[in-house]
Amino acid sequence: MAPSLRPLARLRPPGMLLRALLPLLLFSSLPGVWCFSELFFMKEPQDVTVTRKDPVILDCQAHGEVPIKVTWLKNGAKVTENKRIQVLSNGSLYISEVEGRRGEQSHEGFYQCLAMNKYGAILSQKAHLTLSRVR
Ligand SMILES: *[C@@H]1O[C@H](CO)[C@@H](O)[C@H](O)[C@H]1NC(C)=O
Repeated sequence: MAPSLRPLARLRPPGMLLRALLPLLLFSSLPGVWCFSELFFMKEPQDVTVTRKDPVILDCQAHGEVPIKVTWLKNGAKVTENKRIQVLSNGSLYISEVEGRRGEQSHEGFYQCLAMNKYGAILSQKAHLTLSRVR
């Protein structure tokens, strides 16, 4: 009864092993991939160019465990809602009449939405709202 001296598993060249593991490593290094209660954006606001007095809707749609609270930032500061600017129930920001070039009053700027649930918060990309210059 000569025991077989064959190694249990033939050692593969290390390159092959790495190649097999690489997709897994890449996958697991993506942020949030293994997180159960992941919060992510389905829709983020996009740059828009509008004319004065135009209405604008900037979209924001987050997916994750509810309740999700959406707030908006303009140039990094919280947007205060008023007659002209409101956060809709679906998270989008609605500006009924874009204000022109009066310094503080202007709606021009960089908008971002912030989505929060009990696990954390995510901040969207910046969308630039530009007023087109009417000649
Ligand atoms: C939210 O509602 C507004 C008005 O009905 C709509 O224009 C907008 O596209 C909606 N946003 C999303 C993310 O579906």
